Amino acid sequence: MKKIAVIYHSSHGHTAHIASHIAQGAATVAGTEVHVLQAAEMATAPEALLQYDGLLLGSPTYLGGVSGAFKSFMDATGKMWRTQQLKGKLAAGFTVSSLPAGDKQSTLMSMFTFCMQHGMLWVGNPIIPEQQSGVSYEQAANRLGSWSGMMAQAGHGAPSDEFAPGDIKTALLFGQGFAETLLRLR
Ligand SMILES: Cc1cc2nc3c(=O)[nH]c(=O)nc-3n(C[C@H](O)[C@H](O)[C@H](O)COP(=O)(O)O)c2cc1C
Repeated sequence: MKKIAVIYHSSHGHTAHIASHIAQGAATVAGTEVHVLQAAEMATAPEALLQYDGLLLGSPTYLGGVSGAFKSFMDATGKMWRTQQLKGKLAAGFTVSSLPAGDKQSTLMSMFTFCMQHGMLWVGNPIIPEQQSGVSYEQAANRLGSWSGMMAQAGHGAPSDEFAPGDIKTALLFGQGFAETLLRLR
């Protein structure tokens, strides 16, 4: 059984909503056990990361980067960097922001660099945007065209009302794809 942690921060529930769908997608893959965890809690006990084979990291984009709470989680792993205890774990990132671009890429790059410094293995979001094959923009998986990680766009209302169906579909496929990749590693 491979263990996956979905670790996220969310102030207003939008990133939490996507995290839960990513976890749902990952859990459809037999042979995986998926835990959804708050970045703030993991910051107090980063050694808990050691039990996981795969890490799915999620933060809202705040001012073109990860949120302060998510950065605190990343910084809490500093001692583990010295001994490279996280080396070889599979990792991927996701982010939510309100604007179509919104500098979400910077958030993913920050997560990517964090994972590289720890010696982890990065997995992207290998989904051809479905609008290329005639699916409507709102319904299309990977409609935002992000391959380095998963992006979603949300308005400021209740999380359950704010996502295009395509972004929910992307979250499910992203989680599933990550779990399948993890199972392929020996
Ligand atoms: C301090 C702050 C900074 C933000 N910066 C950006 C930004 O750079 N780009 C963007 O598109 N949205 C930005 N937003 C909007 C959030 O990314 C968006 O509302 C997101 O859905 C919040 O996720 P959450 O509900 O999980 O906290 C910002 C919001 C806040 C509170």
